[in-house]
Amino acid sequence: MTLTGRRILLIVSGSVAAYKALDLTRLLRKAGAEVTPILTGGGARFVTKEALAGISGQRVHDDLWAAEAEIGHIRLARWPDLVVAAPASASLLARMAQGLADDLASTVLLATRAPVLVAPAMNPAMWANPATVANAALLRARGTGFVGPAEGAMAEPESGVGRLAEPAAILAAIEAALAAGPLAGRHVVVTSGPTQEAIDPVRYIANRSSGRQGHAIAAALAALGARVTLVSGPVAQPDPPGVTVARVESARQMLAAVEAALPADAAVFAAAVADFRPEAAPAQKIKKEPGAPPPEIRLALNPDILATVAAHPRQRPRLVVGFAAETERVVEHAAAKRLRKGCDWIVANDVSGDVMGGAENAVHLVTAAGVEDWPRLPKEEVARRLAHRIAEALADPA
Ligand code: C5P
Repeated sequence: MTLTGRRILLIVSGSVAAYKALDLTRLLRKAGAEVTPILTGGGARFVTKEALAGISGQRVHDDLWAAEAEIGHIRLARWPDLVVAAPASASLLARMAQGLADDLASTVLLATRAPVLVAPAMNPAMWANPATVANAALLRARGTGFVGPAEGAMAEPESGVGRLAEPAAILAAIEAALAAGPLAGRHVVVTSGPTQEAIDPVRYIANRSSGRQGHAIAAALAALGARVTLVSGPVAQPDPPGVTVARVESARQMLAAVEAALPADAAVFAAAVADFRPEAAPAQKIKKEPGAPPPEIRLALNPDILATVAAHPRQRPRLVVGFAAETERVVEHAAAKRLRKGCDWIVANDVSGDVMGGAENAVHLVTAAGVEDWPRLPKEEVARRLAHRIAEALADPA
């Protein structure tokens, strides 16, 4: 399995086995993953920051307060698809079980919504201690994944269960954890960006959509294990990792690409599709003739992609989600749009401010059950929440 573009936050805590984290990092990168390391105070006694930085190709985070100033533990917690603690010391497991946030690693573990996998390593007596047994049971019950510890010779002249699992076994557990997302086996089509409607071979009509929200939704769905087809108008956004991208220019091309991508379990229409296109685009550039009046451009109505797919006679996805950009009476207009377009949900946002092209979005989720007002959030976080809601909806047999 490839881990291309998957984001792993690797916490290295105090254990003689910490050197194996270097090997694990190497294996993860070879599999295509991005690895951001966090080194605890204990971990730093056994492996150097420089070695981890060199092998991961990333800067190593080791200080809550430095992280606070430069990137912020919340951003760090939000970044990964999976948090892996390898080795995870007895102390780290205890702090996780207690919900302590007394260093960068424990704070990020408390703040993250990503799944967590731990590879414990400690002296066999520490692993067998009822305190550790209870902590591990509590963490398992809360959904933390475990790999190892293994049985075998330890650094001390004794053996038993407490040895860090081998890097290859940890890699396999990471692959399994990432493959088993709640949207594994589902196909979701997402539209994003503006469309460009040709006036002539060099000119077009478009809008200010950046594609940021749509691309973030595609990335968030893929992070939950979905197979994602992203149909995007011209944008400056990088392709989200692990997503199949179909690039189009016009609304009619976007509709064709969406229909070609069906069937899908869900479809999210985040693109700002141009409502109108120039009726006829001449093959040659329109000339500015001296003395002649400026040309008139007649507009034709574009197809409504969302409404077309929502009314598809054979291949309507089970969940069809539209967006509504409004500048007034946002929820009222969105609720009417939901019915008019025949979609299941509308994500409504107020674009009277700096939403288009901006980093944050304040949205209302309008469904048949009612309206939810979400707080103002980074677009990536809106995407994650929406992806989780889609996973819940598709998991529901009804
Ligand atoms: O009608 P309005 O443009 O406000 O509807 C917005 C929603 O409809 C968005 O989800 C947008 O992606 C979708 N849409 C579409 N095709 C169009 C116009 C809008 O899919 N031609």
